Amino acid sequence: MPKTVLVNVAWPYANGPRHIGHVAGFGVPSDIFARYHRLAGNKVLMVSGTDEHGTPITVQADSEGVEPMELVDRYNRVIVEDLYKLGLSYDLFTRTTTKNHYEIVQDLFKTLFVKGYIFKKPMMGAFSAKTGNTLPDRYIEGTCPHCEFAEARGDQCDNCGKQLDPIDLIDPRSKIDGEPPVFRESEHFFLDLTAFVDPLRRWLEDQSHWRANVRAFSINLLEDLHPRPITRDMQWGIPIPLPDYENRTDKRIYVWFDAVIGYLSASVEWAANTGQPEAWRDWWQDPKAEHYYFMGKDNIVFHSVIWPSMLIGYGAGLSGTLGGGEGEPLNIPNNIVSSEFLTMEGRKFSSSRGVVIYVKDFLDRYDPDALRYYLAIAGPEAQDTDFTWAEFVRRNNDELVATWGNLVNRVASMAHKHFGKVPEPGALEAVDRRLQETVEKGFSSVGDLIEKCTFKAALGEAFHLADEVNRYLNDQAPWQLVKDDMERAGTVLYTALRAIDNLKVLLCPFLPFSAQRLHRLLGYSGVLSGELRMEMVTENGTEDGTEDGTEDGTEDNAGDGASADGATEKTTHLTLTGTYTGVVGSWTPSQLPPGQAMEKPAALFKKLDLSVVEDELARLQSSVD
Ligand code: MF3
Ligand code: ZN
Repeated sequence: MPKTVLVNVAWPYANGPRHIGHVAGFGVPSDIFARYHRLAGNKVLMVSGTDEHGTPITVQADSEGVEPMELVDRYNRVIVEDLYKLGLSYDLFTRTTTKNHYEIVQDLFKTLFVKGYIFKKPMMGAFSAKTGNTLPDRYIEGTCPHCEFAEARGDQCDNCGKQLDPIDLIDPRSKIDGEPPVFRESEHFFLDLTAFVDPLRRWLEDQSHWRANVRAFSINLLEDLHPRPITRDMQWGIPIPLPDYENRTDKRIYVWFDAVIGYLSASVEWAANTGQPEAWRDWWQDPKAEHYYFMGKDNIVFHSVIWPSMLIGYGAGLSGTLGGGEGEPLNIPNNIVSSEFLTMEGRKFSSSRGVVIYVKDFLDRYDPDALRYYLAIAGPEAQDTDFTWAEFVRRNNDELVATWGNLVNRVASMAHKHFGKVPEPGALEAVDRRLQETVEKGFSSVGDLIEKCTFKAALGEAFHLADEVNRYLNDQAPWQLVKDDMERAGTVLYTALRAIDNLKVLLCPFLPFSAQRLHRLLGYSGVLSGELRMEMVTENGTEDGTEDGTEDGTEDNAGDGASADGATEKTTHLTLTGTYTGVVGSWTPSQLPPGQAMEKPAALFKKLDLSVVEDELARLQSSVD
């Protein structure tokens, strides 16, 4: 039975271009997972979009001197192009400024309010002493009252993990201008997280398949759960859908409350865009559907505590008792797959300090599969890791090129040169059969590791199999055989080509671009695992054709956004989508047809000159300060 798998990918803020630390956390892992499940014949929906509200947006808009809508229009496009070039195979990558998203967020807010899970209460809010604007929790820093960590944030202490209020901090200061904030009373809506402690605990106790630290961190949060304010004193954001509030311009729904709902609203939008408006229910209301969430570790609390509480409250009682009334049952997460942090040459990524390499700049100079390989094999899957250019070049040359690229090149060149096509094998010997069996076992070993979200181990296993093929070639030496035993040469080259054909599929989730080129090189036609496209979508559910980047650009929509009363008037928006069904790849052993015409081989990967390291370090040095 095919599984139904929802791949939920954290929504990047549309406040700047993404750097490789971002895509290491949410991007590459989620795409490996989605591509694998599609190849395995499962029913996959992969959704996300740009996160376009909140102070991360307004702070950046202020500093660029533009309106928030202009800012998010610009960076939505930049981010969509980055993700497209990296080959992240979203079924729908949309935005949080769509009419659809506003409606669904307001429905959840209202339903939770009616059910009593959201209540109103005055609170002390932090404001900038200089501008009078509200200061978001995350932009306030100070000393943690629990553990005395000096750089605790207003929402949470990264050292002891405790949830905080800005007012709890000792010596609070604004991260924007370093000034102490002023605190004023203001009325806000709170999500009553305390109502969900028991079901959350029962659920989390059951999640033994999660990465251990993610689960432990989440269970620990339950010790100290308080109602969380889910509105803010600001003008940019989704209006509060209650009488007396819906026309106010000074209070908005908190960005995190809105953004996590994006997983649901994007699923609904995808269904509408594809002309099957009820299809989202297959992922959200079939209890057998599996929900995976991919993110960096600073996002955990929102996905393992807050979003599940919202879902439970809206209608899905874990035991069927909490929900009911308005709001339909919705599935809660099956796994929160969180990455650790990536640093850059020993330092924290920081756009403002120039410690950064943006996805676009990276892909202008290097191939997407080279980046995907590095992030999958050396990324921060289970611990914080450091990106260095030296290690990037070494991994590219000594692993990607030496183990896999050269293998393909050697075998394909010999076969093409001496046979001009996939050779006809003679009788297989025991060594040939052994190699075939060894490589074919990869479909279960690599597949199992991907299903467990241990991507580094999965890729390592596939490369270990490539090593086996290299060993086989060295033992069989087809370059000798072609001189005096063409039949045996044909058998060995066929066996090796077939192994490579298998590895093409095993590596496709990690290295989709080179896998597709190899597919053609072996003489196959068709698309191995889906083709992405950027597309403008018009919000009554009809699309106006494929985005060509000229006639129909989002530039035209810049003024087309949320009006002062917050109602969105945007009518079209840019999305990233793709066609992933009806493709030819499948997670099953190769049946490479003898005699199939081959293309003239060309190298799959580029070996990098060692001077790349110095050049890149010099470039980095010049951008820092
Ligand atoms: N924009 C957030 C960040 O970059 C992630 C939002 S994920 C979602 O950290 F769940 F809210 F969608
Ligand atoms: Zn602390």
